[in-house]
Parts: sequence; C-alpha cells; structure tokens
Amino acid sequence: NAPIVAVTRNVIMAAARSDRIKRTAEKMPVTRNVVHRFVPGESFDEVLDAGTGLLASGRMISIDHLGEDTTDESAAEATVQAYLRLIGLLGELEVSSLEHPLEVSLKLSALGRALPRHGEKIALENAHRIAVAAAQAGVWVTVDAEDHTTTDATLRIVRELRADFPDLGTVLQSYLHRTEDDCAELSGPGSRIRLCKGAYAEPADVAFQTKADVDDSYLRCLRILMEGSGYPMVASHDPAMIAAAETLSAAAGRRPEEWEHQMLYGIRNGEQLRLAQVGRQVRVYVPFGSQWYGYFMRRLAERPANLTFFLRALVSR
Ligand code: FDA
Repeated sequence: NAPIVAVTRNVIMAAARSDRIKRTAEKMPVTRNVVHRFVPGESFDEVLDAGTGLLASGRMISIDHLGEDTTDESAAEATVQAYLRLIGLLGELEVSSLEHPLEVSLKLSALGRALPRHGEKIALENAHRIAVAAAQAGVWVTVDAEDHTTTDATLRIVRELRADFPDLGTVLQSYLHRTEDDCAELSGPGSRIRLCKGAYAEPADVAFQTKADVDDSYLRCLRILMEGSGYPMVASHDPAMIAAAETLSAAAGRRPEEWEHQMLYGIRNGEQLRLAQVGRQVRVYVPFGSQWYGYFMRRLAERPANLTFFLRALVSR
C-alpha cells in the first residue's frame, strides 16, 4: 500500500500548510488525547513536569517551544522571551549525574529568519541571546532543520553561532541529497550533529523519495559522523538505524558517552527506556506550547495510522 501511504502523506502535508485548518485545529484544547500523546502541554509547568519525569527515568531532555514561520518581529521577540524563561527554569532543576542532561531545540523561523527585512540577521541575533543564557545555565542548544529552502540560511547562522558557542548543535536530514557532504563538513572536533531522516514534503530534485533511499543515506551519513571527531546524535525510532548506531559506534571505537540516541516524546517510549537501561544515552525531544499544529501534522504524516486515532478522538468528543 505504498502509493496509498504516499497520497495520504501528501494530503496531510497539504493540510499542514493550510492556515484555515490550522486556525480551527489550534482552538481545540491540547488535552485532546491524540495531540497530548506527542505534546505534553501548553504551559511551562506541564513541560517541566514531563521533563522531570523523563530525567527521573534516566533519560535526558531537549525542550522545544513550539512555533515556526514567524512573520512579525514581536512574535519573534516573544519566542526569545519564552526561551529565556524556559532556560531559567531548566537551570533551577535538580539534575542527574549525566553530563549534559538538559538541552533546548529551536527553529530559526520562529526567531524571525523569514522576516522580509533583515530576517537572517534578526534570527542570528535572537539565537545568540538564547545561546548566551543557555551557556550560563549549563543548557545545550540545538538548531532544528526546516524545509530545504532554509538549509543554506540555517547552516550560515549555525556557523556564525559556533564561533562563540562551539558546542551548539545542528540538525541534518538524511533525505536531502546534500546531507552526506554537510555531514563531512560539520563532523569536526566538538561538533554536535543531530541526524534525522527529515519530516517535510520535499521535491525529487533535492531529496530522496523512497524509504529505502532515505535509509541508505541515513546509514552513509551516520558512518561519517561516527568516524568523525564530533558528537553524533542519532535521532531515529527506526530499529534498523538504532542497531546500526550500535555497530558503527563500536567499530569507530566510541564509548557510550561519546554519542547519544534521540527520540520524540510519545514515540517508542519502551525502546527509549530499554536503551537507557542498557547504558545508552537517550535524549527525548519534548515540544510544548499552543502552536502545536505544524509539529503535530508532521507526526501524522510520518505514520498515517496516527490519523485514524486522531479522527476517532475527534468524532468521539
Ligand atoms: P521511520 O519514519 O522509518 O519510523 C521508524 C519507526 O518509528 C516506525 O515504524 C514507528 O514504529 C516509529 N515512528 C516513527 N514516526 C512515528 C510517529 N509519528 N508516530 C508513531 N510512531 C512513529 N525532522 C526534521 O525535518 N527536522 C528536525 O529538526 C527534526 N528534529 C528531530 C529531532 C528528533 C530528536 C527526532 C527523533 C526526530 C526529528 N525529526 C526532525 C523528525 C525526523 O526527521 C523523522 O521524521 C521522524 O523521526 C521519523 O523518522 P524515523 O527515523 O523515526 O524513521
């Protein structure tokens, strides 16, 4: 049923771009069961509760304040303020003995990159302010990857930020043809790279289109990162990628503290716990906030079976 899955995925990704559907959906309280599975809440209290529970189970966390594609400067400023508050609260948490249990993830489009005037400069300055506060609080920062039209701008900003914050992380997507080269360029000493498959609908001239090709690319990229001198972050729920990370890290002579697994909140919780119990570092990406629509739609598109649960929850209100 690959063609049906592909069509369903395209329909969901089209709905993800519709402002009208977005406005209607975001009015629904986030507590609705299916959204809640992927987004623990809208408030700082709710995300800190979820984060504290994950830390207590031996996992690490990366918190994302939901929001993307900001088109006005005041919204970008509100995002900066939300991150500064979040970092302040994270800095007060009692944390485990793990070396870097706390991280925040951010999207440059939420910090103003798409603003018509000086967007890139504004996003850089905003990300810099967040990185300063995070460094003071002992919290890591990683910059998310958005659609392929933004990759060059994202990597330009990341390179500038790394001059001041060498441990700033960035996300690369194995579905893009360019990513093997980006991995090779960015896998130097101290560099933190989160490798994922990629969650946006991308055209064939820039991205692999089949799962087999995306997976093969992931494995080639992962080998480059494991053999490099940076810190690989293996962001995948796929059992084949998880097993390959084990084999490739051992072949490269890496100790468990020299790389980590990462998964999304609400996906393969049992596997997250199993990996933590066998001594692997596992970080869970935990999104929160009222603007959950785009994030949630990407989770539906990854696994159309989720759509059935979502629709069932809607009609059983
Ligand atoms: P794949 O899609 O092949 O799924 C493997 C298995 O995982 C499935 O069989 C299923 O069991 C489970 N699974 C996967 N998705 C699921 C879902 N939505 N619901 C239920 N089960 C699911 N993307 C991006 O473009 N930019 C980014 O910045 C990030 N950031 C990011 C951070 C972290 C920590 C993670 C884990 C992922 C991202 N992603 C991302 C998303 C990523 O690109 C990708 O879309 C998803 O992780 C799904 O890909 P998998 O590698 O899990 O494999």
